[in-house]
Amino acid sequence: MIAALFRERGFEVTADLKDADAVVVNTCTVRQRAEDKAISQIGRLRKWKLERPERRVFIVGCAAEKLGSKKIKGQFPFVDEVVGAKSIDSVDAAVERKYPVSGNRYPVTTNSLPDTGYRSPVTAFVTAMRGCSLKCSYCVVPSVRGPAVCLPPEEILAEAGARAAAGAREIILLGQTVNAYAYAAPEGRVSFADLLERTAAVPGVRRVRFMSPHPLYFDDAFFRVFRGNPKIARYIHLPAQSGSDRILKAMRRGYTRAQYLDIIRKIRAAAPDAAVSTDFIVGYPGETEADFKESLSLVGESGVSFAYCFKYSPRNVGEGSVGEGSDPGGLTPTPPTPPAPLPPPEMEERLERLLAEVKKNSSDILNKRIGRIEEVLLETGEHGRTSANFVVRLEHNTGLAPGSLVRTEITGTRKNTLRGKLIP
Ligand code: 5AD
Ligand code: SF4
Repeated sequence: MIAALFRERGFEVTADLKDADAVVVNTCTVRQRAEDKAISQIGRLRKWKLERPERRVFIVGCAAEKLGSKKIKGQFPFVDEVVGAKSIDSVDAAVERKYPVSGNRYPVTTNSLPDTGYRSPVTAFVTAMRGCSLKCSYCVVPSVRGPAVCLPPEEILAEAGARAAAGAREIILLGQTVNAYAYAAPEGRVSFADLLERTAAVPGVRRVRFMSPHPLYFDDAFFRVFRGNPKIARYIHLPAQSGSDRILKAMRRGYTRAQYLDIIRKIRAAAPDAAVSTDFIVGYPGETEADFKESLSLVGESGVSFAYCFKYSPRNVGEGSVGEGSDPGGLTPTPPTPPAPLPPPEMEERLERLLAEVKKNSSDILNKRIGRIEEVLLETGEHGRTSANFVVRLEHNTGLAPGSLVRTEITGTRKNTLRGKLIP
């Protein structure tokens, strides 16, 4: 969206700071490290801006929301515009203030980009839902993005159509709890399952993925569509966060280990070759060695093909400041005094052990794909992804255009990817 605003004004994207007239720092604050990185990135722009004061600096996103314009401009007076995540669509106005364009123009939002002759990558992200109405104890997202808001289906489908017309073949529907999507349209309720079907039916779209679902929100309608529609990717990223019931409860995730595993069983019952990946947080305050072992064992028991593992990062999520919405999981209150955080060396050690377990399981899962015939959506002439999201490197350049769907035989593995042979 932001690139489109600049393209509309004749700018080009450059990877070289020396060539840039403007810099947009899009910030994250989900963990403290992400926020720290954003801040040091901004600090590094001071000299660049002083060299040519007509250069412009825009700070946007979740860390901008959390820190606020006053604090950012106080610390970095050279910053021109600050736009927080809650009002991200006003990036349009912020860019307009600094680089006005003459004449009438439509406002640009995340899901309505101007036509600037842009060629889309094979995979395009389309926002279905903003914000989050849950209140996981560790999470800063609800406070920086606000409660969940579903976008109208016609807006989502129009954007998917525009991206497909610009060359996209795979659409990834985005939302913090994307499978909770529901929209009260005049002609009736549009569910997440309906949205998936409608997106898959958009001309040019060959695959639909979504990110990220929450284990609480899968319903029978979803599993029917998932089973029945081959355009829905056989891959689901389903964050578990922990394998311990005690920790899941303290995190206010709203499900138990058994319930998480039950969802995985349902996914596999609907699509036996589906791949599932997950997220884990290690070292949540009060996590004992026994709790941690439950996360370790969940890796093998769930059969996840991959897991992003994070060290717990305190986010200072104030009670009552988050989760203004419903409480669908019947979630329990947090304990009165939080347990002491895990010392850093132990945190590091647990992370290493979990990563090793994930790696071991991933390579077993990858090896099981050898010999299979897989449909690959090409991203270049020589590599692409299977429906289950495994990267396949082809033995020879196919000479085919990105976005082509080809049949391949999986011949081996290399690091985290599959090797494949084109079947003519
Ligand atoms: N500390 C560590 N990891 C976190 N995540 C979210 N909040 C925190 C935190 N405070 C992780 C979760 C989530 C992913 C996007 O980031 O695993 O699924
Ligand atoms: Fe954060 Fe939980 Fe919402 Fe995900 S579901 S964004 S972890 S509060």
